[in-house]
Amino acid sequence: MSGSFPRLLGISGSLRRDSFNTAVLRGIAEALRGKVALTIHPLNDIPPYDGDRDGEEPPSPVRALKAAIAECDGVVLCSPEYNWGMSGVLKNAIDWASRPSFASPLKGKPALLMSASPGSAGGARAHVQMRDAMASALARVVARPPVTISLAHQKAADGRLFDKASLDFAVAAVDDLLDEIELVSGHRSKRV
Ligand SMILES: Cc1cc2nc3c(=O)[nH]c(=O)nc-3n(C[C@H](O)[C@H](O)[C@H](O)COP(=O)(O)O)c2cc1C
Repeated sequence: MSGSFPRLLGISGSLRRDSFNTAVLRGIAEALRGKVALTIHPLNDIPPYDGDRDGEEPPSPVRALKAAIAECDGVVLCSPEYNWGMSGVLKNAIDWASRPSFASPLKGKPALLMSASPGSAGGARAHVQMRDAMASALARVVARPPVTISLAHQKAADGRLFDKASLDFAVAAVDDLLDEIELVSGHRSKRV
């Protein structure tokens, strides 16, 4: 951890301008202002994964994503549920960011998983895929009950989550992520 606040990278699995998932990340960023620096990294320019374009010099939006992951202390993923899974956009970004395998910027990175949906399950069925993909990339997924925001259309407005109970729930999860970051940085400093 460096600087005055832990640096978190928010990644929304939705490209939609009025996305509820991006609204969740914005709501958290505002609720935690003065405690953590959470920036949202849009996935709009990330191309479909192509092994022929992967390697030392992947496409520049991919390089920017990987650099942002490498530089942050922890990532917060918030995905819509599409047909019971995470969004293809998010899976595609994880695939790029997971390279090279066993040495990617996701390796050992503390990660918090969230989902939001207008549905009553809040995107809960997307979590298994998100958790598996991040585990495969060797990220340190925070072990806690999943953060799911149901009926998201009633809880966000003007691009921000405003519902207090949901915000409190999400902020408590970020606290767990901060604990994980501290644990990891403590382990790392003991090793050097
Ligand atoms: C292709 C597709 C599949 C969807 N499947 C699900 C689903 O399985 N479960 C669910 O709760 N919502 C589902 N939805 C509704 C999304 O949760 C909803 O569009 C949501 O607002 C998308 O997230 P966003 O607001 O961040 O863009 C689906 C939407 C699309 C376009």
